[in-house]
Amino acid sequence: MATLRILLLLALSLIAAVSAHNITDILLKFPEYSQFNNYLTQTKLNDEINLRETVTVLVLNNTILSQFVANQSLAVIKTALSIHILLDYFDRPKLLVIGGGSTITTTLYQTTGKAAGSTGFVNITDLAGKKVGFGSAATGSKLDALYERSVKQIPYSISVLEISSPIIAPGILNMPPPPPRVNFTSLLETAGCKTFARLISDTGVMRIYETAEARGLTVFAPTDAAFKAPGLPDFRKLTNTEFDSLLLYHAIPVYVPKVSLMAEKYPIRTLASNEINGFYLTVTTKGDSVTLVSGVDNSRVESMVLDSVPVSIFKIDHVLLPAGFFPQSPSPAVVPVPEASPPSPSPPASAPSAHRPIASSPAPVAAKSPIVSPPGSSGFISRFWFWSCSGSG
Ligand SMILES: *[C@@H]1O[C@H](CO)[C@@H](O)[C@H](O)[C@H]1NC(C)=O
Ligand SMILES: *[C@@H]1O[C@H](CO)[C@@H](O)[C@H](O)[C@H]1NC(C)=O
Ligand SMILES: *[C@@H]1O[C@H](CO)[C@@H](O)[C@H](O)[C@H]1NC(C)=O
Ligand SMILES: *[C@@H]1O[C@H](CO)[C@@H](O)[C@H](O)[C@H]1NC(C)=O
Ligand SMILES: *[C@@H]1O[C@H](CO)[C@@H](O)[C@H](O)[C@H]1NC(C)=O
Repeated sequence: MATLRILLLLALSLIAAVSAHNITDILLKFPEYSQFNNYLTQTKLNDEINLRETVTVLVLNNTILSQFVANQSLAVIKTALSIHILLDYFDRPKLLVIGGGSTITTTLYQTTGKAAGSTGFVNITDLAGKKVGFGSAATGSKLDALYERSVKQIPYSISVLEISSPIIAPGILNMPPPPPRVNFTSLLETAGCKTFARLISDTGVMRIYETAEARGLTVFAPTDAAFKAPGLPDFRKLTNTEFDSLLLYHAIPVYVPKVSLMAEKYPIRTLASNEINGFYLTVTTKGDSVTLVSGVDNSRVESMVLDSVPVSIFKIDHVLLPAGFFPQSPSPAVVPVPEASPPSPSPPASAPSAHRPIASSPAPVAAKSPIVSPPGSSGFISRFWFWSCSGSG
């Protein structure tokens, strides 16, 4: 009996191992699809593919793909490629026995809710001479993307097929590209994050966001209500550098849409991360709900304000308090700093929104240049932290 149970468990674990797939890993073995693979990673469509239990990816070789995506924005490329991800399993045998010679299948683009008309669907038709054609299901589209070959199959989990040319849905390539610069102020104000918008603007942290933007950026913007929550530490007690770090802690130097955020297993480096304090964030999920954990407090993701590769903005319900500044227990976090260091400058008497020269902001390449608090400031800070104890406690 015991042996049988072990065998059964072994079989089950094998099934689990087999049904999980990793599109990045699959395509790594085929250098002729390396560009397709790179774009899947950049747009984070790879996470969407890996999450699907049953999926078919129609790939294009480097020659065809580079012509197709030439001069297109990453946002348009993401949409165009999401039409090549079918939410069903098709291998060669299945393609050759399509009932009635033709079928319509749903693509990943349809799940975005942005697909107009039938642009989120693909028509697969058995053409004469054992050829199979793929095309947009939107009226007037051609079926000129032909099946070329089977690249990789893991029945009935993932199938990767090469097609001869891209599936082009009407209007997709003519979509207006997103503006080269995200207007954080207007997006955040509209989303109910006016305080955060004002703070990143007044401190100059927005400039750092804008510099990081082109290479990928995700911002976690606390709502206006979050800044009025009881028990928040007194931010006026922070030095300018520390307050900048607090704001930089609300962004990470990569584009992360919701599905990818939910898939994050490891602590995430933020724009404030440095060797001394870490300033990492971790993600926990429960059903569809996503929570960011700073080590001091938790923030729930309320909604997505913007998802436009390479930038995404989430709205969160609590200000993220980095553990390096805000020790959890009364015993202050010990940060080794030289005894001889001079104390940091006095905190500003006014609110942190006071105008300060932008030059005092950390270097623009925030992700690479750690934002280190001035030596000696940690001890100084820990003495002031819990104003709530003396204030509202
Ligand atoms: C998928 O494979 C790539 C390349 O081997 C690897 O870097 C990545 O961590 C894998 N992803 C997951 C979720 O295991
Ligand atoms: C891609 O396919 C086209 C047409 O079949 C072919 O001419 C070209 O050499 C291929 N490119 C690569 C990188 O395999
Ligand atoms: C892409 O843009 C460059 C410069 O603007 C232009 O020379 C080239 O012809 C364009 N390529 C395509 C495929 O449109
Ligand atoms: C797919 O497209 C072809 C050609 O436009 C059309 O004849 C066929 O009816 C379509 N298939 C389905 C299932 O709509
Ligand atoms: C961004 O939006 C704000 C508020 O709508 C506006 O005042 C500002 O001029 C915009 N900035 C740019 C660079 O377009």
